[in-house]
Amino acid sequence: MSTKVASGKTTAPKAKLLDEFNASIMFDKELYLQDIEGSIAHVKMLSKQEIISNEAKEKIIDGLHVVQQEIEEGQYNFDISDEDIHMSIESRLSTLIGDDAKRMHTARSRNDQVALDFRMYVLKSNKELVELLFDLQRVLLDISAKHTKTLLPGMTHLQHAQPINFAYHMLAYVSMFKRDIERFEDSYKRNNISPIGCAALAGSPYQTDREYEAKLLGFDSVSINCLDTVSDRDFALEILFNISTLMMHISRLSEEIILWSSSEFGFVELSDEYSTSSSIMPQKKNPDVPELLRGKTGRVNGNLISLLTVLKGLPLAYNKDMQEDKEGVFDSVKTAKISVKILSEALKSMRINKEEMLKATKKGHLSATDLADYLTANCEYTFRDAYKLTGEVVAYAEENKKDISELNLDELKKFELKIQEDIINTLELETSMNARKSQGGTATCSTLKQLEYFESWMKIR
Ligand code: ARG
Repeated sequence: MSTKVASGKTTAPKAKLLDEFNASIMFDKELYLQDIEGSIAHVKMLSKQEIISNEAKEKIIDGLHVVQQEIEEGQYNFDISDEDIHMSIESRLSTLIGDDAKRMHTARSRNDQVALDFRMYVLKSNKELVELLFDLQRVLLDISAKHTKTLLPGMTHLQHAQPINFAYHMLAYVSMFKRDIERFEDSYKRNNISPIGCAALAGSPYQTDREYEAKLLGFDSVSINCLDTVSDRDFALEILFNISTLMMHISRLSEEIILWSSSEFGFVELSDEYSTSSSIMPQKKNPDVPELLRGKTGRVNGNLISLLTVLKGLPLAYNKDMQEDKEGVFDSVKTAKISVKILSEALKSMRINKEEMLKATKKGHLSATDLADYLTANCEYTFRDAYKLTGEVVAYAEENKKDISELNLDELKKFELKIQEDIINTLELETSMNARKSQGGTATCSTLKQLEYFESWMKIR
């Protein structure tokens, strides 16, 4: 059994209902490791500054290691009457080592302690997400390398627009996930600042060494203003926003995979391993993975709005409302981690159906813009007049159930005598795609440059 930590001003036993309502131990036990690491650094600093003895420090550290082991071996009793992870560990330590445990909380408060633990958790999560996103980028780049010539219709308004290649389409997502990685990294850098030593709100009267403690914990620096530090949850908001943006990107890719794997498109087929079947229709293969990814975007957005709302209007400094900051962050982090992992796996095993993509490219007169450009460049048309004439050619092709790229020279000459033999090649879908070689364009040569850019970006990390 643990020894309850002294409860201060109130003396009467707490109502059972209050214990349940007030406690956060059910979820902040997630922070046990950060709490133990934080306490070890804290007592090292206290002993270096001769605020506690070296013997007390050693006893506390040994005791904390025992607590850690008990938790990791499932031998630990998380008791609701201990309120939160900070009190719980301290009371268990008291039972294990006696009165020296009571020295651990010198020159700190739960306000800077929770700010420390939570910040450390968020910083670690930023790093883990970056690692997982690199794995996802690897998968996308490997797919891209194989498909720089695979034609498919590029769309706007979900209507066939211009021919592009599949690598180009995948690299659009690589660009998005690169920004996500950069956002997690920026946030890590901005927030790698130690809050510990701020105590309740006003700093501490002890001769503490915050710099030393920060260094022990791997922080770059120490926070400037303690009142702000114990009230600050921007680091949590940032990871929530960054996860929402990441999940929005994942959701857009998921939506495309869902469409592409329908019989209307048939561009891709998810592996059996990453698809599910219907309980009643034996012929069905459902894209549950991308659907769930799309759906989970809702809950992470909810978590972001929830924390913004909790913090809005809070007076400085700590208020108990802030205990509501953790569950949403834990949930968003877990959701994002599993989502990135499963997306990587589903993509790795997804079959890409080049033939269906090519067939679709032949619908919708995707090289119509090329005819207009041809008339402008070679037949003395203004672009607007060329646009109009091209519209007439498209109508003719429609009536004759052909794609504009399938018309022959005689048919085209009927519209404009100046059109020459080279138009046939110009209107070919591959030529059309390869004509767009401006920087960042879809032409295979331009796509290859983009691929090279992302590959070298991956290497310098
Ligand atoms: N469980 C609390 C939380 O998560 C810890 C901080 C409590 N501080 C206080 N002054 N009551 O926010």
